[in-house]
Amino acid sequence: MKIAILKERHAGETRVAATPDTVKKLVGAGHEIQIEKGAGASASLPDELYEAAGAKLGTLAATLKGADAVYAVKSPDEATLAKLPKGCVLVALLEPHGDKAQAKALAAAGIDALAMEFTPRITRAQAMDALSSQSNLAGYRAVIEASQIYHRAFPMMMTAAGTVAAAKAFVMGAGVAGLQAIATARRLGAVVTATDVRPAAKEQVASLGAKFIAVEDDEFKEAETSGGYAKEMSKAYQAKQAELVANHIAKQDVVVTTALIPGRPAPKLITKEMVERMKPGAVIVDLAAPAGGNCELTKADEIVEHNGVSIAGFSNLPGRLAADASSLYARNLVNLTPLLVDDEGKKAPHWDDEIIVGMALTRDGKVVHETLK
Ligand code: NAI
Repeated sequence: MKIAILKERHAGETRVAATPDTVKKLVGAGHEIQIEKGAGASASLPDELYEAAGAKLGTLAATLKGADAVYAVKSPDEATLAKLPKGCVLVALLEPHGDKAQAKALAAAGIDALAMEFTPRITRAQAMDALSSQSNLAGYRAVIEASQIYHRAFPMMMTAAGTVAAAKAFVMGAGVAGLQAIATARRLGAVVTATDVRPAAKEQVASLGAKFIAVEDDEFKEAETSGGYAKEMSKAYQAKQAELVANHIAKQDVVVTTALIPGRPAPKLITKEMVERMKPGAVIVDLAAPAGGNCELTKADEIVEHNGVSIAGFSNLPGRLAADASSLYARNLVNLTPLLVDDEGKKAPHWDDEIIVGMALTRDGKVVHETLK
């Protein structure tokens, strides 16, 4: 199969969908790889390394010529989409939740689009799960960013001049990003607490050496759904939990929020009043910023200051670790590739495979994903 790798065109996107290492793997499996010149530059991956790995480098037009599949990080812009060969398979983070217009445009352009976000959370698909690979890095980076903004140290330090207290860090949402944020804050020496609406998270939080904070009533115990994602909690539960969290947050130095139920706007877990009860110098890093934020004051891609509290809404934290994020994302794509070809390596997506069924947004000029039809 001929696979085209594009230079990303979204503002601020530093990642790339292939690395020299994954090019070697794909070429080794019999695929032809065409890469747009400069595609890896912002991830510290110069063209020569791709060429040495066996890729052909060229202009956008040369890269797309005859491509059976296009691998990208984000959806190509409109002008680029118009140039994609009809019938090719586009695989990217297409931000598909609720975006019917984009799905329709992809269908109208005759592109069979697979959204990496829709990779089912089943064991067989774990190695292809880009949300997990990227969220893991995002959770780590969120704490590193918090440590830059915070004017104090994370670990307790005993010096001749006196003792510096350890920072108190609170992580809201203990999924993939949250668990990595907990682990990172612990490594830096903070005293860490965390919360989640899934009862199963309690054990995972404890295993990382953090304390779990939640109203643990009957609703909480029944909350875990079979798909591995959380369900929306009742208003009464949310009110009780909000009160517990409000009192807890007032004592925290660093708060990382990652709470989200896929396809819904981010739940507002931190109100303006709660921020006003926090200590000056405290920092909130809100990973849910692209979905509207878990904090009422969050603004995407800004650091807002309110009463001395900084609220950071970085919307592309993996992009701040472009080399690692690209490497993991590109490996997710390599792991997906066998599901896009037949035994001879020719393009033949396995449309009946539950992984492809889960990811397929458009096929043969039609929107096919259940949530977007
Ligand atoms: P995930 O689905 O693994 O984890 C989300 C967690 O939040 C789940 O454990 C869920 O039970 C929990 N949750 C849902 N509602 C909650 C509530 N009301 N209170 C407490 N916990 C609640 O998702 P993942 O992969 O960890 O991503 C988390 C968030 O980070 C998502 O919003 C994702 O879009 C975002 N993200 C942001 C990035 C950035 O650069 N800003 C990069 C990567 C992810």
